Amino acid sequence: MPDLHDVVDEIAEKMGQREDRGAVATYIPQLARVDPRHFGIAVATADGTLACAGDSEIPFSIQSISKVFTLTLALGVVGDSLWRRVGREPSGNAFNSIAQLELEKGVPRNPFINAGALAVTDVILSGHPPREALGEILRFIRFAAQDDSIFIDEAVARSEKATGFRNAALANFMKSFAVLQHPVDHVLGTYFHHCAIAMTCRQLALAGRFLAQSGRNPDTGFSLVSPERARRINALMLTCGHYDGSGEFAFRVGLPGKSGVGGGILAIAPGRASIAVWSPGLDAAGNSHLGRMALEILAHKMKWSIFGD
Ligand code: DON
Repeated sequence: MPDLHDVVDEIAEKMGQREDRGAVATYIPQLARVDPRHFGIAVATADGTLACAGDSEIPFSIQSISKVFTLTLALGVVGDSLWRRVGREPSGNAFNSIAQLELEKGVPRNPFINAGALAVTDVILSGHPPREALGEILRFIRFAAQDDSIFIDEAVARSEKATGFRNAALANFMKSFAVLQHPVDHVLGTYFHHCAIAMTCRQLALAGRFLAQSGRNPDTGFSLVSPERARRINALMLTCGHYDGSGEFAFRVGLPGKSGVGGGILAIAPGRASIAVWSPGLDAAGNSHLGRMALEILAHKMKWSIFGD
């Protein structure tokens, strides 16, 4: 097996040289002005190795990657009854699509499209004012990463709110079907803030370790979730984590993964490693172009695809 540090260094160098970087998101200024030349990677393995290269220490907006952590928390709050409010099927649509929601009576296809993530956020609000729910989300991520410096970028949260008309439409639509139980502005405010969490690749790879290690946080030895729940979250990341690009991601990379419009991807090699990559340029489905390419090389070289060598 090649040395992980060598592979990670080589990938960062290769990605640094590529001209085809995709296009950065432009819907808010904080993302539009990020330099597309950034590339970072961090890999935290089950045996405790941490391999980082490139811009692995620069915080970026994790955006929809936060939906992995909110799903984990919501399952902790209501258990499997969550699946009465959110489906588990890939949508085959864009992350912010509204069309399916009408046909399916306000029940979102899965927890990773925006509609599903809004329903998940609504669950986390049960019994909490928004500020406390948000605190809980941030505490959970900090605990998983064992890093209290992880923060919410308030400027990003404000911009999300100022431009989030489609999310407002989705939330109002679900409210009309009583799929949301809390006030729409509470759900949206909490959602915009958890999307605005900023993390480095190193912090994100560390935060994802529980999914690679049957629910256990290796620093503390405590379980964040049961092995069964970790396995199921990974299954959803594989089938739904890249929206309408999920099939292509499974085909090329072969790992559960969750992307964000900030250009980050968290990928899990079950039993082996938690991996974070960041390159701000996106492909047509809104997933990091070089991030996916980097993961494809890594999974291939380390023979980590869940589908075999
Ligand atoms: O809901 C939105 O528009 C963003 N805050 C998050 C979207 C996102 O990251 C989609 N992923 N590619």
